[in-house]
Amino acid sequence: MPSAAAGAPPERRPIQPLPDILVSQIAAGEVIERPASVVKELLENAIDSGATRIELRIEEGGMRRIAVTDDGCGIPAAELVLALRRHATSKIGSLEELERVGTLGFRGEALASIASVARLRITSRTADAPHASAHDTGAGESMPAAGTQGTTVEVFDLYSATPARRKFLKSPGTETAHCIEALRRVALAHPGVGFSAWVDGRRVEDLPASSWQERGLAGLGEDYQHAHRMIEAGAPALGVAGLLGLPTISRARADRQYSYVNGRFVRDRLLMHAVKQAYADVLHGDRHPAYVLFLRIDPALVDVNVHPAKIEVRFRDPQAVHRAVFHAVRDALRASAAEHPALAGGAALTGGGRALPLPEHVQTLQRTLPIRQPSSVYSVKDQTDPELTGRAPSTPGIPARPIHAAPTAASVAAAMAFLAPGAADAATQADAAEVDAAEAAPLGYAIGQLHGIYVLAQNAHGLVVVDMHAAHERVVYEKLKAAHDARSVPVQPLLIPATFRADRLDVRLVEDEAPLLAALGLELSVLSPTAIAVRGVPALLASGDPAALARSVLASLRETGSADALAGHRDALLATMACHAAVRANRRLSIEEMNALLRDMERTAGADQCNHGRPTWVQVGLQELDRWFLRGR
Ligand SMILES: Nc1ncnc2c1ncn2[C@@H]1O[C@H](COP(=O)(O)OP(=O)(O)OP(=O)(O)O)[C@@H](O)[C@H]1O
Ligand SMILES: [Mg+2]
Repeated sequence: MPSAAAGAPPERRPIQPLPDILVSQIAAGEVIERPASVVKELLENAIDSGATRIELRIEEGGMRRIAVTDDGCGIPAAELVLALRRHATSKIGSLEELERVGTLGFRGEALASIASVARLRITSRTADAPHASAHDTGAGESMPAAGTQGTTVEVFDLYSATPARRKFLKSPGTETAHCIEALRRVALAHPGVGFSAWVDGRRVEDLPASSWQERGLAGLGEDYQHAHRMIEAGAPALGVAGLLGLPTISRARADRQYSYVNGRFVRDRLLMHAVKQAYADVLHGDRHPAYVLFLRIDPALVDVNVHPAKIEVRFRDPQAVHRAVFHAVRDALRASAAEHPALAGGAALTGGGRALPLPEHVQTLQRTLPIRQPSSVYSVKDQTDPELTGRAPSTPGIPARPIHAAPTAASVAAAMAFLAPGAADAATQADAAEVDAAEAAPLGYAIGQLHGIYVLAQNAHGLVVVDMHAAHERVVYEKLKAAHDARSVPVQPLLIPATFRADRLDVRLVEDEAPLLAALGLELSVLSPTAIAVRGVPALLASGDPAALARSVLASLRETGSADALAGHRDALLATMACHAAVRANRRLSIEEMNALLRDMERTAGADQCNHGRPTWVQVGLQELDRWFLRGR
């Protein structure tokens, strides 16, 4: 719709700064949306003050009065007025502190915003003050008051100064419900703090200090008492903990979903998506799970300063966060589906309500392993066999048997096959000759493939997990180097040359550096000013895509400038070729191929690290496995 003032040009006013109160009212428009926003800000201030007890009082849906009392550090009398000033805060003092902020508040605008749309009174006393002091924005001055250590902030007649805003509010009952929900959001993340709430003089909430598990259950509700899983997983820089409602009592609305980042309630799409996806297998249609999820992350890796009410955050590495949450939740749910308490993480609760601490690598496994009913058979003896408990990893006489496995059923979950009837019988059929063979092969024999990324093998000590791409890359690289050293890189001529489009620079390189390329085992020829043909590749790399290989070598050459420096760059070039040729993720290998890779690794010097310095395989000893399952204790 065109502006009504189309005819007459608007009168121009000189640019001038807005009055301070108007600036605060504008900010309040975003920060103080309704009474519950006041409750949130006051509760967060109380938490930041180090309180152990917090009381909330609401009258007439918070429109008449909201009061929050804490027993925290208090505000010195001389700073009471400053506390109400915009952009005045005790919580940060520099950009550096902002980037690592650990308090819930940091902008120094909440009290100023509230004070711009309501009357406000702060009564506070620090530990060393002889008495409390109070400041009332109505009276405009500070004076001595009665009170113990801590702070009470009272907010009267919200939006009386901005009646337009008041019209947007709902009934007192609805606004009260939002206020109590705001309390719940804060309380869930601060279980060590006791909370109580009064509505129009009636006590409606009383939450004593407790463990996060107990607080979480109180938050989700009675129904979840026997229908939840606890999770606690992750590394120091990124940890996930929480309480997951089982799908058996899903909800029609997504109303009991609480996500926190470092103790701050957030409504973050990424987190919600990760959880939703993790529930997707077990929860269908338009049902919603209930959960409380805590993400603990290095504050430097998350920006909390992206939303007026700080309810959204931005992660430095969103994918890593998504992955961590997705795996933690999915694995806990799957474990619960399999009804195997040892794998349900914190589901195994001790009397004190604390989750049984599981070793970190178990948690890692929980995050990454699918818990399927294994269709392969792992040669584990009957679990009651005393021989299997508390033994040393290299105890002689422990049969390290090769496996009868379907390559598709590739997962350490196979190691749990003892749960499946008949597993022990099958195991006893293992061939003694194969036992000897297993002992002869340090890296053991393949069991199967995991997620198209890892090869799992059994050796005399237990389980070997191989990063198949990294390991293959290393093997190919070492072979290429040896062949190159011997000046005899065997070339596999291509019956039908592979051609690809190229630019001038590539064409020049092929013409100028033919000897170098030949030494690398690459036979290239120029077809036209814009096309190159690959006529031969190193026999070692014959199974790959010849054009892609040639292109990546040319790209690598372009980066290093000229090929004069072959000596210096040879290894880099060979590494490029090896990486290119190594088996890609998701390629299904047969057991024979996997065993061939293991044997190649045993023969290759330095095969325990890939060309990028990462390990190519790890050993998980039987003793360690026993520890996971608390055997022999
Ligand atoms: N309950 C409290 N106990 C102790 N100090 C408080 C309390 N409430 C407020 N303060 C002091 O008043 C200052 C201003 O509070 P305000 O909520 O306006 O800003 P903030 O918490 O620093 O930042 P934000 O605007 O992000 O909440 C705080 O920095 C703190 O020093
Ligand atoms: Mg604050």
